[in-house]
Amino acid sequence: MNTAFTTENNAKVGVLMGSDSDWATMSACSDTLRKLGIAHECNAISAHRHPKYLEAYIASAHERGVEVFICAAGGAAHLAGVVASQTDRPVLACPMKGWATEGLDALLSMAQMPKGVPVATFAIGKHGAINAALFAGAILARSDESIRKSWQEYRAQQSASLPTLPVNS
Ligand code: RP5
Repeated sequence: MNTAFTTENNAKVGVLMGSDSDWATMSACSDTLRKLGIAHECNAISAHRHPKYLEAYIASAHERGVEVFICAAGGAAHLAGVVASQTDRPVLACPMKGWATEGLDALLSMAQMPKGVPVATFAIGKHGAINAALFAGAILARSDESIRKSWQEYRAQQSASLPTLPVNS
């Protein structure tokens, strides 16, 4: 097994996927993090197929200063919960479309984590992937002025891209 994680110097966000097949969706998360100027790293590490590798990755991410984890998984949706069990940092969960229930199984599994070890759960698919990146930005913006500016600019561009309709009284 290849035990070399893909790491990035000064990564603040660790994006984890249960499989490289999740990348088709999670590349949108990475693109959004990049737009916000957030250093991040993306790895496909399955919680049930590579549990020890996952544990080693989390320990390494802590040492390197990763502050937020974004975890994407479909059929086997436990990745976010397993990561949350091993970290004191926020864990954002992205349900991927599976092969049987279009991702509803993953959404419910993530959102219905029993009390004690929470994960913040986002929408199924690309919208959730992008929102998880924006939410990670909102967390990091509390202590990083440059991310705060990029985050606010992203919001301003979003507002500017929509026409303002007159309201008839
Ligand atoms: C999950 O099962 C992965 O996160 C992925 O969404 C799904 C299918 O994985 P592969 O069979 O494509 O490796 O664990």
